[in-house]
Amino acid sequence: MGRERELGAVEQAVQSLREGRSGVLLLAGEPGIGKTRLLRELVVRARAADVLTLYGRATEYERDRTFGLFVDALDDHVAAVGTSGLPLPREADRELTRILPSWGSGEETHPSRLREERHRGHWALRALLRALSEARPVLLALDDMHWADPASAEMLSYLLRHPVREQLLLAMAFRQEEVPPPLATELATAVRDGSARRLDIAPLSEQEADGLFRPGLHPGARRRIYQDSGGNPFYLLELARASSESSGAAAVLAHRPEVEAAAHADPVPRRYARPSPAN
Ligand SMILES: Nc1ncnc2c1ncn2[C@@H]1O[C@H](COP(=O)(O)OP(=O)(O)OP(=O)(O)O)[C@@H](O)[C@H]1O
Ligand SMILES: [Mg+2]
Repeated sequence: MGRERELGAVEQAVQSLREGRSGVLLLAGEPGIGKTRLLRELVVRARAADVLTLYGRATEYERDRTFGLFVDALDDHVAAVGTSGLPLPREADRELTRILPSWGSGEETHPSRLREERHRGHWALRALLRALSEARPVLLALDDMHWADPASAEMLSYLLRHPVREQLLLAMAFRQEEVPPPLATELATAVRDGSARRLDIAPLSEQEADGLFRPGLHPGARRRIYQDSGGNPFYLLELARASSESSGAAAVLAHRPEVEAAAHADPVPRRYARPSPAN
C-alpha cells in the first residue's frame, strides 16, 4: 500500500487521541487518490486501540437529508448502546429526538422545521459528541465530506469554531475542489491556526506503485501503466486490469488477498449493521 508518511500521520493521530487529546485530521485529494482507503486505515487502527469509532459517509444523492452525514455516523451507535446514562442537558436530549431516528420518540420532524431550527441541532449534536468523548476516546470519521448536506456542513463549521475539548478526533476525507465555500474557508482557517492537520494525499511514487504489480511483470509494462495513471491508484488499478484483459495475458496486478480485503472492509462494525432505510 505504500503511503508511509500518511500512515505515520494516521498513527500519530490515534496515539494522540489515546493520550486524551482532541484533534482534527483532514485527508484531501483528487478523486481516486486513496482518501477512503486511508480513512479506513485510520478506522482500523482506532478500533484496535479501543477507540469508539463512528463512521459516516455523505453521498451525492442525499444532500437533502438534513443532518444526514451526522445521522449516518451516530444513529447506529445510539441504536446499539442506547442513550441512558449519557450526561446531557435536557434541552439537548429533546433536540436529538428530532435529529436521530433512534434517539427515542420515533416521531419524524418535518425537514423544513429541522432546517429552521438547526442551530439548536448543532448545539445538541456537539453536546452528544462531548458526552460520548468524556467517557472514552472517540473517532468521528466522515468520508466524502464534500457531499455533506447543508446542515451537516454547518455543523462541521460549528465544530471547527467550537472544538470539543474532550478526547475527540474528527477526521474527514474530501475532494478539495468540491467542498462548499463557507466550509472550505473554515477548514483553511483551522489549518492556518494549527487546530487542524491537513494531509494532501499525493500520487503514489513509482516505487509504491511497483508493489501493486505482479512480480515478474515486464518493467516496460509497469512503467507505461504507472505513467499513464499519473500515480493515481484508482486509474492505475483500472489501467492494469484493462491491460491484462486486452492482452489476454496473465494478470498484471499482484494477487494479494489481504490487500483486497482491507480495501473492501466494511468500516461500520458488524454489530451496528442494520438494514438501510430503503429496505
Ligand atoms: N495506497 C494504495 N495501495 C493500493 N491500493 C490503493 C491505495 N490507495 C487507494 N487504493 C485503491 O485505489 C482505489 C481508489 O482509492 P479510494 O477509493 O481510497 O480513492 P478516493 O480518494 O477515496 O476517491 P474518491 O474521491 O472517488 O472517493 C480503491 O480501489 C483503493 O482500494
Ligand atoms: Mg473515497
